[in-house]
Amino acid sequence: MSSFIKVNNLDVQYSRGRRSLFEKEEFFKAVDNVNLSINKGKIVGLVGESGSGKSTLGRALLGAKEFHHGSIHYNFEEGSIDLSNLSKKNLRDFRSKVQLIFQDPYNSLSPRMTVRDIIAEPLEALGMTKSKSETDNRVIEIAQKCQLNINHLNRFPHSFSGGQRQRISIARSLIAQPEFIVADESVAALDVSIQAGILQLLKSIQNEMGLTIMFISHDLSVISNFCDEVAVMYLGKIVEYAPKNEIFLTPKHPYTQALLNAVPSINPHKKNIQKTLEGEIPSIYDRPQGCVFQSRCSKVTDQCRQNEPSLKKFHNHEVACINLDD
Ligand SMILES: Nc1ncnc2c1ncn2[C@@H]1O[C@H](COP(=O)(O)OP(=O)(O)OP(=O)(O)O)[C@@H](O)[C@H]1O
Ligand SMILES: [Mg+2]
Repeated sequence: MSSFIKVNNLDVQYSRGRRSLFEKEEFFKAVDNVNLSINKGKIVGLVGESGSGKSTLGRALLGAKEFHHGSIHYNFEEGSIDLSNLSKKNLRDFRSKVQLIFQDPYNSLSPRMTVRDIIAEPLEALGMTKSKSETDNRVIEIAQKCQLNINHLNRFPHSFSGGQRQRISIARSLIAQPEFIVADESVAALDVSIQAGILQLLKSIQNEMGLTIMFISHDLSVISNFCDEVAVMYLGKIVEYAPKNEIFLTPKHPYTQALLNAVPSINPHKKNIQKTLEGEIPSIYDRPQGCVFQSRCSKVTDQCRQNEPSLKKFHNHEVACINLDD
């Protein structure tokens, strides 16, 4: 079976500006040579410390941030799309098939639009309905699915709680019936009990619609409950990618092990894992030669300082490390 999303050798850069007026603009890679295959209908968790490039990768997958090298290929139900080679028409089709769920339900909803208009906006922007009544029906249908009170659709967002606002965001993201969603820290701003309800809702809709989700989060216990697979990022690179249970029960990369070790409650094999994370993450402007994790790794050897490991299949994991124990 071919993957739903296939990312090959992806680099995404940002500008560092110029040192002086007379010098050239400098760039750095926030995402560096990423390879990733995502299967249809999966929820893939993306974890890693702040600044590791998670949001940048998510935005590149949505076509919201240009990339400078490599490729992103989607196998949608109605045909495949290569993001580096999009015509205007294909770009419009693509935009209807992918969506972002906003990070912050307090600031992301326009305070001057009614909830009906907020939810309807993607449909209207993409010209996907023929009449106002067709749009209204679609809004009501998705609002019900997201457990919103349809008698309150003419209200403004300020009269809703954080959890309800996140349901509005989700309804808006789903109304155009996308096939792929990036949820970037979508429940991080909510209380734990409200988070659980939102995640349950998202999972049941995901199941029903056969959605594929990239779920970006700092919260490993949320990732362990919600995701099917987990990709671990460090300094712009994916260092490990495996089914959720494999990641949590038998993490292979020293960085994954250290990340899990920092959360004892979700790590039943704590005694097998020696080290927690020490030291600072190196500057992304000054990525070391060889393995990106070398400065913090307890298993580092000279080889790690010379050769950059690529992601290799190891049991059911893909791991970028040359010192793996069985
Ligand atoms: N618009 C931008 N211009 C320049 N640099 C940026 C921009 N956005 C992000 N960066 C830098 O790119 C790197 C990756 O950032 P990104 O936001 O993708 O990380 P992240 O893993 O999502 O972090 P967090 O967990 O804090 O959300 C960081 O060094 C960040 O400072
Ligand atoms: Mg981010």
